[in-house]
Amino acid sequence: MTVIEEKIRELRQKQERVIQGGGEKQIKKQHRAGKLTARERLELLLDEGSFVELDQFAAHRCIYFGMSEVEAPGEGVVTGYGTVAGRLVYVFSQDFTVIGGSLGETHAAKICKVMDLAVKSGAPLIGINDSGGARIQEGVDALNGYGEIFKRNTLASGLIPQLSLIMGPCAGGAVYSPALTDYVFMVKETSKMFITGPQVIKAVTGEEISPEVLGGAETHNWISGVAHFFAENEEHCFKLVKQLLSYLPQNNMEDPPRLPCNDPPGRISPHLTGVIPTEPNKPYDVRDVINSLLDNGEFLEVHAFYATNMVVGYGRLNGRPVGVIANQPNVLAGCLDINASDKAARFIRFCNAFNIPLLTLVDTPGYLPGVKQEHEGIIRHGAKLLYAYSEASVPKITLILRKAYGGAYLAMCARALGADEVLAWPTAEIAVMGPEGAVNIIFNKEIEKAANPVEVRADKIAGYRRQFANPYVAASRGLVDRILDPQETRPALIQSLESLVGKRESRPGRKNGNIPL
Ligand code: HXC
Repeated sequence: MTVIEEKIRELRQKQERVIQGGGEKQIKKQHRAGKLTARERLELLLDEGSFVELDQFAAHRCIYFGMSEVEAPGEGVVTGYGTVAGRLVYVFSQDFTVIGGSLGETHAAKICKVMDLAVKSGAPLIGINDSGGARIQEGVDALNGYGEIFKRNTLASGLIPQLSLIMGPCAGGAVYSPALTDYVFMVKETSKMFITGPQVIKAVTGEEISPEVLGGAETHNWISGVAHFFAENEEHCFKLVKQLLSYLPQNNMEDPPRLPCNDPPGRISPHLTGVIPTEPNKPYDVRDVINSLLDNGEFLEVHAFYATNMVVGYGRLNGRPVGVIANQPNVLAGCLDINASDKAARFIRFCNAFNIPLLTLVDTPGYLPGVKQEHEGIIRHGAKLLYAYSEASVPKITLILRKAYGGAYLAMCARALGADEVLAWPTAEIAVMGPEGAVNIIFNKEIEKAANPVEVRADKIAGYRRQFANPYVAASRGLVDRILDPQETRPALIQSLESLVGKRESRPGRKNGNIPL
């Protein structure tokens, strides 16, 4: 064997050792827990053979609590780059089989390196989290490592898409890296996220709760809104990630990828004519409308289980990605509340950062009335929606389906907030408030004095409806640009979008705006 052959053999042996991670026993434990290993996950995520690993031989420098004797292959995290559907992504995948995937100084440095490369190269960052958190033996070095990651998450925000996949524990301050990224995916039963775990909670407040109920995938998808996507298992999670990436540009300097479209742009949707119920207070599922409008009915819903009175997600019109924001009349009559405002505002800001045009579908009676909403800050939270739409400079197309009342008319991207084109169905109702409420206020005395108050009231409501519950007053002011036969909506939206492809709108430079948080 030549000297070089000897050295190559040594390299292969060392690489083999790193690839084994925490060893066979730990890998079996990982599989028994229903989880794949860090490397198996990268195989499922990335195009076959595309993964390039960095820092295989990185080693910790910890000398406390016997750590100088502890070997940690790969330092508990696999990092590098590869492709998804042929497009470059940077990745890190924490290896729970090595010291519980805990994060020390070197583990953090490996992650920071791929974060820096992702920003420099303008490619998305995908982090797979499966870790016991800060490596206890490394003390402040571990904490500092998290700080370095948080800062990078923040500075990369709006430059490259950052996705966090939670595929095991993610506890304590460690949760804040995913929370600072754009999208959080959680997997049924195996993902857990919490700031303080069940034992600490029991000691401090006396409350008893299981880890799953405290911070499992269902909790964060249905209740807290921390997670944006719910996956049945790890394979499903990677499928969702790939679907999401297909709508996103690589970075903020690129347009989102346009795909060939086999759904005719001129396609008519006859059933949309009957989608709005004749009774004004009857609900319907706005997702039926969304699916009819988008290419091949394909819609990737974001936050599908949280604040369901608002529907947000991605689709395409004639092959071009759009971000859809829609009131859902099926839930709370489509009212805007605190959580729906937060959900939509965050989605709008992501789309704007990454040049994804906004399509807004409006059918809302207004902001949700109630003491709880007022006391929890609907003023502050509702303002986020106004802020996000006003600040957005991407093409903004608004379609008013039915109700657009009061502040909610404005908050759902009215002309005044910068909508480039406002379309309306003939069923649109645009006014300060609904007929019943308005008549009670402006004709109260007249109705009270009338000999036949019921009839007078009904008469006033009918008069108000004729006057205001239609799109024609707004159209007469140029606040609605086109009134459409509903079945012709898809071709009309595609015309609007195509006309706005070259939109340029700049804002004066500033350090940052001050969105009401
Ligand atoms: C060092 C750790 C570790 C950690 C786990 N391990 N977490 N080592 N630092 N934070 C080690 C374990 O000692 C064990 O080593 C191996 O990883 C696997 O852990 P197990 O406990 O055997 O696994 P499991 O039963 O599946 O339980 C997983 C777990 C539990 C729920 C994550 O390990 C746990 O509660 N860990 C501590 C979680 C935590 O409180 N972390 C600190 C959060 S605070 P051996 O050698 O036995 O195999 C934080 C601050 C961040 O992260 C601050 C940012 C601002």
